[in-house]
Amino acid sequence: MRVLVLGKGGREHALAWKLSCSRRADVVFVAPGNGGSDQPGPGSRATLANVNLDPMDFAGVISFAKKESIGLVVVGPEDPLAAGIVDALRHEGIRAFGPSKDSARLEGSKAFSKEVMRDANVPTSEAKICDHPDIARNFIETREYPLVVKADGLAAGKGVMVCSTKKEALEAVERIMVREEFGREVGRRVVIEKRLMGYELSVLALVSGRTIVRLPVCQDHKAVFDDDLGPNTGGMGAFCPANMATPQMLERVDSEILVPTVHEMKRRKCSFKGVLYAGLMMTNQGPRVLEFNVRLGDPEAQPLLFRLKTDLLDLLEACVDERLEEFEGKIEFDSRPSVAVVACARGYPGNYPKGDRIDGLSDVAKLDDVMVFHGGTKRDGDRIVTDGGRVLAVTAKGDDFAQARLKAYDAMGKLKFVGMHYRKDIGGRKNQPAAE
Ligand code: GLY
Repeated sequence: MRVLVLGKGGREHALAWKLSCSRRADVVFVAPGNGGSDQPGPGSRATLANVNLDPMDFAGVISFAKKESIGLVVVGPEDPLAAGIVDALRHEGIRAFGPSKDSARLEGSKAFSKEVMRDANVPTSEAKICDHPDIARNFIETREYPLVVKADGLAAGKGVMVCSTKKEALEAVERIMVREEFGREVGRRVVIEKRLMGYELSVLALVSGRTIVRLPVCQDHKAVFDDDLGPNTGGMGAFCPANMATPQMLERVDSEILVPTVHEMKRRKCSFKGVLYAGLMMTNQGPRVLEFNVRLGDPEAQPLLFRLKTDLLDLLEACVDERLEEFEGKIEFDSRPSVAVVACARGYPGNYPKGDRIDGLSDVAKLDDVMVFHGGTKRDGDRIVTDGGRVLAVTAKGDDFAQARLKAYDAMGKLKFVGMHYRKDIGGRKNQPAAE
C-alpha cells in the first residue's frame, strides 16, 4: 500500500517511521515532512519520501492522493482535521484516518468540548465561557481561587494560560481577546475555569464505532522550564507508560470519561473515529478532563510509537474500516519504558530563529534503542538545520525508566545547535507518584 502522512512535526516523523515498518507499506509519503521524516529508521521496510504539499491545501492533497494511488491518508495535526480534511478525502473516495470535521470540534472548540462534557456528565472543572473581555474580567474579579484561561480555538498548545493570581488571569484575557496574540478567531471567546491540582496524564485511545481501545498512558511536560515553570508549550517531553495510573484509576477513566464522551458524540450524530486524547488532571477526587484532543499527542506519539510492536498500518486501517474490535486486547508494546526529551530553538515558545545547523545527528544514529524524531528541522544541502520551535525529540528505551532517561539525556548531550534548550527533568518530576 502507498500511504500519505500529513504534517511536519515529531509526531508525523514517528508515524511515518512506524508505518514504514509495516509489512504491507510500499511507500510512505510525508507532506510536507521535515529533515528526518524521509530517512529510514530501525525496522523500516518501505521507502520514505517528503512531498512539498501543505496539509491545508485540500485540493492539492486530494489530487496528490489520486495521482499516487494512496491507499490511506493519516492526518497528524489538528488544523486540517478541524478544517474537515477527512470529510473532503472521504468525499473523493480516499480512505483517511482521523475524525470528521464535526467530531474534531472536541478539540477545535474548548466551549463545544465543555458542552459535550456537561451533557455526558464527564468530570471536568466548572467553566465560564466568555465572548467579551468585560465579561471575562468581571468573572475573574469575583473568583477567589487560581484560574486557567483558555483561548476557545486552536493555538498550538500555547493558548492555555495557567494563572496563579487575578493579575495573571486578567493579562491572559488581554493577550487572547484584546491583543489577539493567537489570531482573531481563536481570541473571540475564552473559557475560564478553576485550576485543578494533581498530576497530569495523557490518555489516548483509538476509537471506531462502538470500540474504544485505550493505549498505554503517557505523561507530557507542558511548561517550558524544569519544575513546570514558565509558559506552556506544545510539550517539552513525555514518557510512556505512565504507570502511576493504577488499573483502578484507568477503569474510572474508561467508565467516567471515554465511554460517556464517545456515546455523547454518537448521540449528537457525530460519531467519533480516530484518536481520542483525554488530557487529564488526576486529583484527590479522581480524574478530571482538562481538554480533549482528536489526534496523537506530540511529543506523546514519540515514546508511544517507539514502543509499539503491532503493525501500525493494520491498526489504523482497522480503525478506518470499523474493525477495531479485532485488536481489542491484542495490541503489543515493548515492555521497556521510553522517554522523549524535546530540544527547542532559542526563544521558543516565543519568537525563535530558524536555519541553525544541527550537529551530532550521525553520532546519535549509531546508538541502540535511541531515535531522534525530527520536528522543526529541514534539509539544507547536506546539512540539517532548525526550522521550527520544537526542533527534535530524542527518544530512548531502557530496561527501566532510569536507564531510558540516561540514554535519552546522554544522546541529547551529543547534539548541538545555537540556542538549543531542553528540560532536564523529563520523567523525573518531584511531587507526584513515581512512574514505576
Ligand atoms: N502534547 C500535548 C499535545 O499534543 O496537545
